[in-house]
Amino acid sequence: HRHLLGIEGLSREDIESILDLAETYVTLNRQTDKRADALNGLTQINMFFEASTRTQASFELAGKRLGAAVMNMSMAQSSVKKGETLIDTAMTLNAMHPDLLVVRHSSSGAVNLLASKVNCAVLNAGDGRHEHPTQALLDALTIRRRKGRLSRLTVAICGDIAHSRVARSNMILLGRMENRVRLIGPPTLIPPGADRMGVEIFDDMAKGLEGADVVMMLRLQKERMDGALIPSMREYYHRFGLDAEKLAAAKPDAIVMHPGPMNRGVEIDGLLADDINVSVIQEQVEMGVAVRMAAMDLLARNLRARNEPGGAAR
Ligand code: CP
Repeated sequence: HRHLLGIEGLSREDIESILDLAETYVTLNRQTDKRADALNGLTQINMFFEASTRTQASFELAGKRLGAAVMNMSMAQSSVKKGETLIDTAMTLNAMHPDLLVVRHSSSGAVNLLASKVNCAVLNAGDGRHEHPTQALLDALTIRRRKGRLSRLTVAICGDIAHSRVARSNMILLGRMENRVRLIGPPTLIPPGADRMGVEIFDDMAKGLEGADVVMMLRLQKERMDGALIPSMREYYHRFGLDAEKLAAAKPDAIVMHPGPMNRGVEIDGLLADDINVSVIQEQVEMGVAVRMAAMDLLARNLRARNEPGGAAR
């Protein structure tokens, strides 16, 4: 593959090979000396048009640990403020010959459009409500490590599904790996057409969580909501906020996940989120660095192959 734009374009084998390579980087990242050379000589530019803690920090660390020259564009201080378009901005940076461009944008499809214009490899770090492929891959690695497999599991994705690129990428990945996926949330936060995506839909936590191996909580994405889609925060937490009592409906060894950033007391009880016997939230963050290292390593191999004599022109 030339870019990593979504889970949609990945086969089962692609997913497994990224996760297998990521395992080697989990080991490396736990050592004191974290240096590897997969991106030596390459330039990585991170362009985040939306706020981020985990994704931006882990892409930066991943690039540096693999030997790339990494530049974080501060989009809030860029000439986008003076009216320059996304594509003109991308073409300007493209002229500086980066090899890897990591992009987050609020518009669904913006990263695919950008990838069609530039010469380098593009990694989607989240576009609108469309895809967040490295998040789904890091979630998959976390599940595989905790459950010993990434198929034949019952995974409940709960909360604001409608506005969530994390949910969409996870639904595609988990479906491709032959898991049973359930969506739980108020009908106003279930995307239209979800019933045709091979998932089961619930608006009751007790029913939806019954027998679940994995419980994935999502933040209410207020920045993507036009109007009031929930009655009140209090009512939302009462019905859909995950606490130990509601979790009791899931399997006794169920794990609790959250992509972050989380809002304690809105979609999840703070004590449950911190309970290391069930919550794998910090492990998800750790897997994020390894998965991003693996994804950039594989794209760099492709870049180098294309640049070899006889390889396809970039
Ligand atoms: N999960 C995730 O994408 O977090 P950030 O928005 O902090 O990058």
